[in-house]
Amino acid sequence: MDLSAARVLITGASRGIGLEIARALHAQGATIIGTARSEASIAAAVEELDMIPVVGDLNDPAVADRVIDEALTHGPIDVLINNAGIEIVGQVAEQDPNDLRAVIGVNLEVPITLAHHVLPHMLERGSGRIVNVSSMASVVSSPGWATYSASKAGLSSFSRSLKTELAGTGVGVTVVEIGFVQTDMLDDLRSNDFVKASFDRYKRLGLARIMAADEAASAIATAIEKERSHVRLPKRSIAMSMIANAPRRFAELVQKGVPTA
Ligand SMILES: NC(=O)c1ccc[n+]([C@@H]2O[C@H](COP(=O)([O-])OP(=O)(O)OC[C@H]3O[C@@H](n4cnc5c(N)ncnc54)[C@H](OP(=O)(O)O)[C@@H]3O)[C@@H](O)[C@H]2O)c1
Repeated sequence: MDLSAARVLITGASRGIGLEIARALHAQGATIIGTARSEASIAAAVEELDMIPVVGDLNDPAVADRVIDEALTHGPIDVLINNAGIEIVGQVAEQDPNDLRAVIGVNLEVPITLAHHVLPHMLERGSGRIVNVSSMASVVSSPGWATYSASKAGLSSFSRSLKTELAGTGVGVTVVEIGFVQTDMLDDLRSNDFVKASFDRYKRLGLARIMAADEAASAIATAIEKERSHVRLPKRSIAMSMIANAPRRFAELVQKGVPTA
């Protein structure tokens, strides 16, 4: 995909990985439409990258339902990057059910809703890409983040199934399964004793490497440009994702040629 004239909608573009993706794509000439919860949180990114802001709490279904239409008022969307995500760590038995619903809502329901709204426009043009920022947590189990892992496992599964549904349409899907990235979210994660203990264990075993957000963003930008269907980082963890996804890959091969329209 030629990114120099692309129009890209990034959810959660105010900070962390989303902001770095915006920087990487803006540097290649793309126009960025970025979402965040408030004008104040996205103001600096708007100023720096000439970003078009779309503001609202995506956990509100009315906001999730209007984001695509609002973005489309600026022209067609070539790439939707479902990046916004939240982590509320703790033991399931002790957590507030509203927090559990919010994690599933923002991390899983919102990307599906935005894909639903943008797809008719991409299919009509016969081109486009949906990028879903999942996580290595989609394939590993650790105490303290069961609901987060479930949301990301759902997002990875949705992405790969959607890819089969869109075969031959000109619209592609990229799923991003990455390990630890230095952002506000990682700081929050490590504030929980259970998560910190499992994080430290991964580190001792040499399985965890903390990436900089711009490293993850650069790999995501390259995957969009080269129309790749997945991003897996860091390299030392690639086998986990490949093994866990082997049944899905097998089904994709078996279903090659199954009509999708
Ligand atoms: N950091 C990691 O180690 C790691 C690893 C693997 C995958 N990921 C995934 O990468 C993505 C980005 O994570 P990050 O570490 O960059 O997170 P982050 O630094 O906490 O940034 C989160 C972004 O999402 C936005 N956001 C959060 N809740 C929202 C809501 N309810 N409505 C609208 N926007 C909302 C935030 O906007 P505001 O500024 O307005 O709050 C912010 O732009 C997430 O999907 C995460 O699960 C992260």
